[in-house]
Amino acid sequence: MKTIFSGIQPSGMITIGNYIGALKQFVALQNEYNCYFCIVDQHAITVPQDPKTLQKNIRSLAALYLAVGLDPNKATLFIQSEVPAHAQAAWMLQCISYIGELERMTQFKDKSAGKEAVSAGLLTYPPLMAADILLYSADLVPVGDDQKQHIELTRDLAERFNKKYNDIFTIPDIHLPKVGARIMSLQEPTKKMSKSDPNQKGFISMLDEPKQIEKKIKSAVTDSDGVVKFDKENKPGVSNLMSIYSIFGNISIEDLEKKYEGKGYGVFKTDLAEVIINALQPIQDRYKELIDSDELDNILDEGAEKAALVANKMLRKMEKAMGLGRKR
Ligand code: TYM
Repeated sequence: MKTIFSGIQPSGMITIGNYIGALKQFVALQNEYNCYFCIVDQHAITVPQDPKTLQKNIRSLAALYLAVGLDPNKATLFIQSEVPAHAQAAWMLQCISYIGELERMTQFKDKSAGKEAVSAGLLTYPPLMAADILLYSADLVPVGDDQKQHIELTRDLAERFNKKYNDIFTIPDIHLPKVGARIMSLQEPTKKMSKSDPNQKGFISMLDEPKQIEKKIKSAVTDSDGVVKFDKENKPGVSNLMSIYSIFGNISIEDLEKKYEGKGYGVFKTDLAEVIINALQPIQDRYKELIDSDELDNILDEGAEKAALVANKMLRKMEKAMGLGRKR
């Protein structure tokens, strides 16, 4: 059976972009693959986090993993910092990474642009991500479009290590969703929807109330020609809303164009808000049951234990290959 690894940062409210690009794919893949899904809290601290909020976000993401339909009997769910092998392996991979290639990562450039103090962790973020993936010999990594460059670097690092030391790593492939690999901001449809966007109107959180969803969709930026037509280049706002509708409403883009032919954006937006609200309702109900439950802690405890067994084995292989410690 092939193995899958993916992670999400607990760095804010999880958005419908994260759901479409990542979570929804995870749920579909768990039946066919040996899956590891991680809450990457060590990645989150590469930018400043308030400790109390981080704690809340970690738990919230864990509950959301389950609420969207991940089954702990099928997939291993765990918190990155609870499996120390990740940080240990990341150190070794940092030592075979070049500063130049890390500085070329667009995420690093975006997140460090204009900042006076940039943490070293922000630069060495990708080798930690490579460690996450390579420790589990993942064949596939389901992510959104924005993680492409990081997966390519992971492949480069794996190949470099295999060549230089010992052929121990599986070279992972990226797995992108067919529709929705990049959901855009509702306010600036040429920018990706992001959970760290200071403008709350730019994203819909998985836990937004129906009223908030209606408001955000109503104020979403479109254009002035009033035609519901998919054209990313010239109509980025409308096309983005159509992608979201298509996924949550389970309807093709072509059928959407037909359905709203001759109708304006008003009806389209009202229906879209309803479609999102209805799709999120059962997830939010389940989330509420889980968030304060012991069940959640038990699942995470078991997940960390299971993950550590696999990760520690690979860590030993890495150390041996690099000549660390003593020969035993
Ligand atoms: P993060 O936490 O930024 O995002 C989590 C997942 O959501 C996807 N995503 C989107 N997909 C579509 N449209 C959007 N607007 C959108 N925004 C986010 C991301 O592509 C991602 O799949 N570096 C990763 C976390 C990570 C990881 C890993 C992923 C750490 N280690 C190992 C895979 C494997 C990140 O920051 O994701």
